Amino acid sequence: MKLGIRVESVVKKFGDLTALKTVSFDITKPGLYGLIGPNGAGKTTMFKCIAGLLVPTSGDVFINGGKVEYNDLSIKQKIGFLPEDSGLYDKLTAKEFLSIMAGMHGLSKKDAGKKVKEIVELVGINYPPSKIVKFMSSGQRRLLSIASILLHNPNIIILDESLSGLDPINREHISRIMRELSKENIVLFSSHILSDIWSLCERILILKEGNLILDDTPGEILSRVSDNAYFLQVLTDIEAAQDVLVSFPQVKSAKIHGDKLIFHLSDYEFINEIIRKITEKVKIKSFGPNIPDLDQLFVRLVNGI
Ligand SMILES: Nc1ncnc2c1ncn2[C@@H]1O[C@H](COP(=O)(O)OP(=O)(O)OP(=O)(O)O)[C@@H](O)[C@H]1O
Ligand SMILES: [Mg+2]
Repeated sequence: MKLGIRVESVVKKFGDLTALKTVSFDITKPGLYGLIGPNGAGKTTMFKCIAGLLVPTSGDVFINGGKVEYNDLSIKQKIGFLPEDSGLYDKLTAKEFLSIMAGMHGLSKKDAGKKVKEIVELVGINYPPSKIVKFMSSGQRRLLSIASILLHNPNIIILDESLSGLDPINREHISRIMRELSKENIVLFSSHILSDIWSLCERILILKEGNLILDDTPGEILSRVSDNAYFLQVLTDIEAAQDVLVSFPQVKSAKIHGDKLIFHLSDYEFINEIIRKITEKVKIKSFGPNIPDLDQLFVRLVNGI
């Protein structure tokens, strides 16, 4: 099987509004892929086109090499899609809900029981299976929703705002599940929280007003928005660290600002060697790209770099 999501020149119009304007991208390896963009950028529309819940006005989507057709059952078997506003049946218990969802994916009663148990463990649902959906907290509901889209072992997992509205503990918990799933599957998710995307993803896709304006690795994006500027904080002799930095021809400038060294690097490939040399002499406290905070970075990214 050829794992992948291929989006080819997808346009989606709703009447006069063009929500997606010729969007193309290709994901061919397991991993975590983040889709960001302001409200109304077209993220949910994109996900629905991939999941076969919306028909593109033009263009095609391919999942594992097969073309996505509207409401195609074979596509649904390959995809686990967590919608933004996933509705759960309020009156059911967690166990009943998962059993029904397993049945909907064609699992026999016996297999469903086994699978539900396995997924409950994987997702780490630790509230009683007899708990009624109506009385669950939003974090508990989110876990249940995630469990419900994994029962058929999808290898393409699409999560629309899976981390929003959760406390940091639940965010970390769900991030961990996403990381685990991404080892063997493609996990494509949207978030407004740039730090989540940043720490998790190997590729970031940015939609703005229906256009895919960026598709790159966090490292590449950072080096663009930071103008190749980095900061370094050390625990010991900051001047010794500065001496090491300026000894590298790839370091364009290295100035001390308060307790930080700010420097420009013409070629990121040398960073490991530079850091290693510095650690031979001084203890490093922190190091990173010299960028504004992540919220400001989000604004800069969507407004064009
Ligand atoms: N079924 C629909 N009918 C008409 N317009 C729609 C429909 N679905 C989405 N839109 C419009 O398409 C545009 C993109 O919406 P979409 O929900 O894809 O954005 P989004 O990036 O997911 O935003 P958010 O971050 O707020 O979830 C918006 O202008 C929205 O109003
Ligand atoms: Mg949305």
